[in-house]
Amino acid sequence: MTLRVQNLSKRYGSTPVFANVSLDVAPGEFVAIVGESGVGKSTLLNCMAGLDHWDSGSVQLAGHDLATLNDDARALLRREAVGFVFQAFHVLPHLDVAQNVALPLLLLNRPDPAQVEALLEAVGLGGLGTRLPQQLSGGQLQRVAIARALVHQPALLLADEPTGNLDPTTAAKVMDALVAQTRQHGTALVLVTHSLAATAQADRVLHLRADGIAPHLPAQVPSP
Ligand SMILES: Nc1ncnc2c1ncn2[C@@H]1O[C@H](COP(=O)(O)OP(=O)(O)O)[C@@H](O)[C@H]1O
Ligand SMILES: [Mg+2]
Repeated sequence: MTLRVQNLSKRYGSTPVFANVSLDVAPGEFVAIVGESGVGKSTLLNCMAGLDHWDSGSVQLAGHDLATLNDDARALLRREAVGFVFQAFHVLPHLDVAQNVALPLLLLNRPDPAQVEALLEAVGLGGLGTRLPQQLSGGQLQRVAIARALVHQPALLLADEPTGNLDPTTAAKVMDALVAQTRQHGTALVLVTHSLAATAQADRVLHLRADGIAPHLPAQVPSP
């Protein structure tokens, strides 16, 4: 199992965020998570990556129980095993496209310009490596972020509303690139979204609520 979350509960002070969240994500599987704004979707993704703390339960990532790792070991595991794509791209403005995509490989001391070029090609940005981010559209910026998230071939890709800033046509193209790349590399994908269209290709769609997570019923998907 790439990711195993068992009975996870999280509070801020005395305010509960979510409780009893359990899910397994297998290699190559695409799990979409929906739920009302503020229910804790981003917090749950952060817990999955060991970027946030929880109050009870456990998270196993690529065979490691995150509770048994110190901060440094978590950071190393995250660098190796996790890619992130956020709603707000987070592409670094002073680096060109290829330098942005190369970053995870540099952090791992594994520079690989051919792999960077292959990923850019795969997401439809071939030949744009020397462009600066300001010379790209929103859809292109998100494809830079996808290439960067996958360039080191992580076991798990976490995507937090990755099409939230895009028009429907661009969003569909970005989702196609995301799903094609994760399927091709056998990457497990956990994607948080408000968009019905973005859930369409998922193997499973789960609904996060304060008291747990369960398979969603179509009528319960919140409107955008
Ligand atoms: N650092 C924090 N301190 C206190 N409360 C927080 C903090 N971060 C998030 N929250 C609260 O936790 C809840 C879940 O937030 P979030 O995970 O961002 O929800 P979602 O992504 O589903 O919209 C919200 O009610 C939010 O206000
Ligand atoms: Mg959120």
